[in-house]
Amino acid sequence: MATLSITVKAAGTLASAKTDALIVLLPDRKTLPAELKALDAVLSGTLGRALTQGDFSGTVGASHSLPGAGAIKRVLLIGCGSPDKMTVAQAKKTSETMARALMATPATDALIAMNALSGKVAAPETLIEQLTLQATLAHYQYSHTLNKRKKPTRALKRVAISPDESCSASRARRAVRLGSATGQGANLTRELVNLPGNICTPKYLTSEARKLARAHQNLSVSVLDERKMADLGMHSLLSVGNGSEQPSQLIVLKYSGAPAKSRPYCLVGKGITFDTGGISLKPGAKMDEMKFDMGGAGSVLGTLHAASLMKLPINIVGVIAAAENMPSGRATKPGDVVTSMSGRTIEILNTDAEGRLVLCDALTYVSRFSPAEVVDIATLTGAIIVSLGQEATGIFSNDDALADSLLAAGDRSHDRGWRFPIWEEYHRQLDSQFADLANIGTGGAGSITAACFLSQFAEDYKWAHLDIAGTAFRSAPKGATGRPVPLLVNYLRERAGML
Ligand code: BES
Ligand code: MN
Ligand code: ZN
Repeated sequence: MATLSITVKAAGTLASAKTDALIVLLPDRKTLPAELKALDAVLSGTLGRALTQGDFSGTVGASHSLPGAGAIKRVLLIGCGSPDKMTVAQAKKTSETMARALMATPATDALIAMNALSGKVAAPETLIEQLTLQATLAHYQYSHTLNKRKKPTRALKRVAISPDESCSASRARRAVRLGSATGQGANLTRELVNLPGNICTPKYLTSEARKLARAHQNLSVSVLDERKMADLGMHSLLSVGNGSEQPSQLIVLKYSGAPAKSRPYCLVGKGITFDTGGISLKPGAKMDEMKFDMGGAGSVLGTLHAASLMKLPINIVGVIAAAENMPSGRATKPGDVVTSMSGRTIEILNTDAEGRLVLCDALTYVSRFSPAEVVDIATLTGAIIVSLGQEATGIFSNDDALADSLLAAGDRSHDRGWRFPIWEEYHRQLDSQFADLANIGTGGAGSITAACFLSQFAEDYKWAHLDIAGTAFRSAPKGATGRPVPLLVNYLRERAGML
């Protein structure tokens, strides 16, 4: 994966710019901003005419391209609405529009000019961070399993951003660093989530974790194989991989950005590299999408990549519970009872409710790190898609302050979540006649009962669960979104005092 280089450049005179694509951000006005008079002259008045004739309006989401002149090969006009009232949502949409228009051109470099916004941007750093993040995301293309004829090519190599006078070069450079790190983290997540199940196995996740640790000085990895997990009593986690030829893995990544005595933030990811449902087999339609069932694990790796690039001054422990859920003569059967690492016995009434089975042992395991907070991330239930669709990640927590922080981080990054209750009354659905608890509920509220199950293994610390089944990937066009990496990165930045 080639990363897009993004830098900050002093505005200079646009009319004499040398670039494949000059991107001009414009407010919603019909008249030519004074800052663009000289550029308009070089472009023979076409810019001014596009505004007065109404070919381009500066509303958020609008874009218009003009042929260039001299050393400027082409010009892209991008609407910013009212810059003085720009929300994160508008900054994101403006940036997405810019990135889409830019990637559609054959340009190898681009210059993004903010000076026509006349220093009136409400939060220039938010806009610069979004421009960087969305350009980085749009630059990514999946190619791992495509041969030469189909391999996509991306001409664009370099982007420079010229902030307007409302933002100093050093603040702009910081916003670019943060946006680019978040984008690179999310792109790592997308690549892993997009890879097919025959390539991205539990062992593959281990090798990717090792690769990430080699790339970052403050990051180390250790892996528990099936024998070590059995020694620890992780029979719930192990029961999920029973039917598979692929050995399960518990991957532990440690990022040290603070002194060792500083309690770590723990991220725990569901890493089901393929979910057939097991003996409770899923229907055939769209079963291929269950390669995305390691989206939680992917977001742990992506978030650690971003945190390392940003050098966040906190400690983070990432734990990935990786297994493949397959039917076979050795597979777990409905009605089987297993003993979890916590000592609680679990009646597995449905082998397709496997995410909670791997996560519960990982949640017990992370107690040993005396975590400041624990957040698990999982493509856990189809029911969360019924509740929230593709827009929001489901948030569940035993701590109001942690839930509020995650909600706020989602708002700041426009990678939003929505909180659900995990009341005592819902827990009763998990009562079992043959074990301490059953792995599925008996009534409705499938996402909530799944979270209730997890919460019983997270009683020792502040914990939240993110159900990303609706947000981690899209069905059309099929592909990983990189969510909730922006949310998680924002949450950790806030905890690290680096907002
Ligand atoms: N990985 C699935 C959840 C899922 C479904 C993610 C659709 C993305 C799209 C999970 O392991 C699962 O199968 N959950 C079951 C739980 C049920 C058996 C209680 C579900 O949601 O149907
Ligand atoms: Mn399942
Ligand atoms: Zn699953």
